Amino acid sequence: MSVYKILTDPNPVLRQKCAEVKRINAGVLRVLENMRDTMYFAEGIGLAAPQIGVSKRIIVVDPGDNYLEIINPVIVSREGEQNRSEGCLSVPGKVGWCNRAQKVRVTGLNALGEDVDLEAEGLLALVLQHEIDHLDGILFPDKAVRLRNDDF
Ligand code: NI
Repeated sequence: MSVYKILTDPNPVLRQKCAEVKRINAGVLRVLENMRDTMYFAEGIGLAAPQIGVSKRIIVVDPGDNYLEIINPVIVSREGEQNRSEGCLSVPGKVGWCNRAQKVRVTGLNALGEDVDLEAEGLLALVLQHEIDHLDGILFPDKAVRLRNDDF
């Protein structure tokens, strides 16, 4: 098991636009494994590669019942609105509310290099939007319409 240190704001890696993955090689598979282990260890429901210092377009998510890993994820459509509290392992101690789409369709690749084309709504849709924002150097407080300290 490989648990990595999660970078926190204001680490500059979190603000970079991540590069597309050109080839799914052993290095990419190792990053995926490290991301999965780190997310579960930290009890997060999503993680983006820059959070462990890798500036590549890779995310993993698991909002409770469904582990997904997506390479080069792209949101191809959005529908509706939701606004629920969110936090981030890279922004400890803060909770915020952002305007997010209620439903998204996301395309990308899985670890085998196969096309992923997925429709998500609710919490899964929110987590996907949050993680994909990380790949463009965006942290949730940038978009929050309300932000507060998490006292717990
Ligand atoms: Ni985050």
